[in-house]
Amino acid sequence: MPSLINKKIILGISGGIAAYKSAELARLLMQEGATVQVVMSAAAQQFITPVTMQALTGLPVFTSQWDARIDNNMAHIELSRTADAILVAPATADLLAKLSLGLADDLLTTLCLARNCPLLLVPAMNLQMWEHQATQRSVQRLVEDGSTMLGPASGIQACGETGAGRMLEPAEIVEHVCAFFQPKLLQGKRVLVTAGPTFEAIDPVRGMTNRSSGKMGFAIAQAALEAGAQVHLIAGPCALPTPLESGGQIYRTNVTSGQEMYAAVMQSLDCDLFFSVAAVADWTIPNPAKEKIKRHSATVASKKSSAPQIHFAANPDILQSVAQFAKANKTGPNKSPRPYCVGFAAETSNLEQHASEKRQRKGIPLMVGNIGPDTFGDDLNQLLIIDENSKQHLPRAPKLTLARLLIKAVAKKLA
Ligand code: C5P
Repeated sequence: MPSLINKKIILGISGGIAAYKSAELARLLMQEGATVQVVMSAAAQQFITPVTMQALTGLPVFTSQWDARIDNNMAHIELSRTADAILVAPATADLLAKLSLGLADDLLTTLCLARNCPLLLVPAMNLQMWEHQATQRSVQRLVEDGSTMLGPASGIQACGETGAGRMLEPAEIVEHVCAFFQPKLLQGKRVLVTAGPTFEAIDPVRGMTNRSSGKMGFAIAQAALEAGAQVHLIAGPCALPTPLESGGQIYRTNVTSGQEMYAAVMQSLDCDLFFSVAAVADWTIPNPAKEKIKRHSATVASKKSSAPQIHFAANPDILQSVAQFAKANKTGPNKSPRPYCVGFAAETSNLEQHASEKRQRKGIPLMVGNIGPDTFGDDLNQLLIIDENSKQHLPRAPKLTLARLLIKAVAKKLA
């Protein structure tokens, strides 16, 4: 579901080479349902034309505070009063310096000063300009004054140098804008999420794992961050980037085995909410071989089959251990168990019955059922949220959409 429906965003463009990416940015914002009103500085028009931006957004572009198209001739006031946010991308060093001082010598800067809505700034400049104390002072002051900085990223720059100062990619900017508008239902809460599979070694080159991709757990970590929480993500082996990585706000611990995940979780229990989304291997191989087991080696116990006999031992049940800890730690709202535990059950049949039984067996307030293994790796899922008294079905949708709905449901229970 698009995340910016009914949102009006003023896209301010100042004069940097990254301005060519603002066209794509406008398009992506509109794909999320936003109305995009473009305002350009004089320098921006050296890099990209108002005609391009008008054609893409379907709205006339404003470039001057003397524009007579607005009835009362006060474009700086009129434009900002109807906007949900002003997003300036790219924001040059010059623009940041002016805004930090409250200077207002063109429409874009006047609009930012006269606004009564949030200001999101996406810096883009040469790395020396970014690192200059003057720019860093401007950034610090703007953040103190309540503006939100998105980026910059590091990498190769248009000038040929490499370092911090690149504008975030349009898709990343849109992710941050969508996150910005999510309701802050978990403001001030600490959230711990496990995600992905575990890998249990047989020898240095082989092991046992499962088909969990980590996508659902990562989506929940993202939705929790968007909701204002402080998020710690403990991830088994999976290739996914940390959600909203350019914001750098999710603290991530990578682990391999179930034992490692258990240890990492048990050290991180000072949290309000625990989402146990990882598909932890139920069994592990104690004392894996130090050398690769050879097909014909003596360690292959059964000569008849020439296949090794592997003995399994149970892995700790992380969720159950956290639930027991929580019951003994009644420091949640109204002296309730802390952290509030949410489990995930991937089932191949009788989802409701198995997930319900599992909720009781593990001693947790909430179990979320999803049909596996079809959902593994998929971008879509459907969920069944089960608590002591009720069931709620969330129909098939992108995992991030479901994660946001789940956060909403859980936040209500914490309230
Ligand atoms: O019993 P089952 O593995 O199906 O339960 C699934 C739930 O239990 C998930 O929330 C999973 O993260 C958690 N779990 C765990 N430790 C295990 C096995 C499962 O935390 N060893």
